[in-house]
This record gives sequence, structure tokens and C-alpha cells, in this order.
Amino acid sequence: MRTCTSSSQLQAALQRARSEGQSIGFVPTMGNLHEGHLDLVRKARGLCDVVVVSIFVNPLQFGPNEDFDSYPRTLTADKEKLFAEGVQFLYAPGVEDVYPDGMEAQTVVSVPDLGDTLCGASRPGHFDGVTTVVNKLLNLVRPDAAIFGEKDFQQLSIVRKMVRDLCIPVQIVGVATTRDEDGLAKSSRNGYLSKQERRVAPLLHQTLANCRDAIACGFDNFLQLESHARMNLLKAGFEPDYFAIRDARTLRPVTDATEEVAILVAARLGKTRLIDNVRLSLNPVSDWGMLADG
Ligand code: PAF
Repeated sequence: MRTCTSSSQLQAALQRARSEGQSIGFVPTMGNLHEGHLDLVRKARGLCDVVVVSIFVNPLQFGPNEDFDSYPRTLTADKEKLFAEGVQFLYAPGVEDVYPDGMEAQTVVSVPDLGDTLCGASRPGHFDGVTTVVNKLLNLVRPDAAIFGEKDFQQLSIVRKMVRDLCIPVQIVGVATTRDEDGLAKSSRNGYLSKQERRVAPLLHQTLANCRDAIACGFDNFLQLESHARMNLLKAGFEPDYFAIRDARTLRPVTDATEEVAILVAARLGKTRLIDNVRLSLNPVSDWGMLADG
């Protein structure tokens, strides 16, 4: 595995693969890799000849009071995992390589509407930071396919929209959420949880699953389902940021035109902010009530 710390090194290295006609799969990450990331890598390996992974804790997507400084940085262990998965190229730049003129002077890519709701409402500027860095990374790597986890369902929707709107020639591939046995979605931030919090954390997924099952059984008072779920989370010690039943395509409230529902949650447990989602098809003809886990 070749590690590049500058964009020029990376571009030169990839030029060779490209000239040999090899297809390139790309997995952007912020490191502290777990099974969820490795599932994305495996997907990329299955789709493409060459796999590029980036590890960059992107300051532009963190708010002033968020965990940028404490975000776990585990480059040595990450490299071992990527090597074992047969990754050919790692791009692990410093902030100066990604933002050579400084973050203030950086051109920003912003996806309206989809980026303004849910996590966009509670983390102002977060998705602009994500789309800006993902745009830069896609332009650098020029992959055939880029792989993202469905755990960050809003992020995936926003990246798909950006790629469509800006005609970026890449296939965006979503991969189902990897979970611990008790249902907790794998996340680098799970490492912040105390033992007691870790015991409570799976309730987030259970609450989503209960809500999904209620809808699948025909319960259609979504406001009541949302407030019941929020109440249960509060009782268990979470501070819910949102628990929302939305149209999976628009991320806006469900309408008669909704074909797929996404149930999304963000909640704080102690100092850890956790997110998760599940989806449910509402297609009345072929698969009403089919469950799609996210
Ligand atoms: O999902 C992440 O880890 C990050 O938001 C991403 C896509 C690597 C951009 O920094």
C-alpha cells in the first residue's frame, strides 16, 4: 500500500493506474477505522481494480464547539487495517495540503434544502464542510465509484445531489449500516461512550425499529410516533436532537407521493452525539411494508 500525504503525489500515483485502464474505487474517511469503514473498502474492492482510501479529519465540517480536537486519530492502526484489506493507495494529507490558502479563503460547495434540515439545522455549516471536501477529493482522485455508508443517510443524499447537480462523473454507492450484535451502528464516536452509556446506546436502533414496525403495521399518525419515540429516548437518558419520519428522497415530511420513508434520529448520550436511521418502502402494489434497514 502506498501512502501519499500530498495531492500531487496522489495524482501522479493514480495517473499510472488510470493509464493502464484500471478502474478506481474511492472510500473517503476521517480515520479511526472500524468494521463499517472496512465494509466500504470491501465494496470498493468488489467494484473496482484499484482502491483509494482517504483519511482526513476535515476541520471545515466541525462547528466551533464540536469534537474536532478530540476526534480519534489512529493512523498507524488504520494503515494496518487497510493494508490487510488489500488497499493500494492511502491519501492522508495535512490540513495545509487540503486548504493551502486557509479555510477562510476556500471556495465552498453548498447543497441547499437537503442540507438545511435535520443535522444541517442542528450543525450549521457542517454539510457545506462535507460537500466542499468531498468535492475536492473527488476532483483529486477522479474515481469511477465512491463509496459512502448509509448510516450517514443525509450525507449520502446530499453527496448524490451534489454529484448530479455538478455533473461529476462518478457513481456514488451506498452501503448498508454495519452494526454491533445488539444493533448499535458502528461509529468512531462510539469510543466516547462510558460502559454504562454503551449499555443504553442500542436503544436508539430499537426505537427506530419499533417505529418502522408500527408504520409497517399501518400506524400512520407520524407526529404521535415521533413524540412517543422522543419520550422513550429521554426516559432512557438520551437528549434527542431530532427523531423524524421523513420522505427518504426529499428528507421532508411524508406526503401522498412518498414511496420510501426514512426514520432518522440524532441524540446525545452524555457527551456523545449518535445518529442512526432505518428505511421502509411504502410501495402499495409490490412490496408494501417491506423493511429496508439503513
Ligand atoms: O463520513 C465521513 O467520514 C466524512 O463526513 C467524509 C465523507 C469523509 C468527509 O469528511
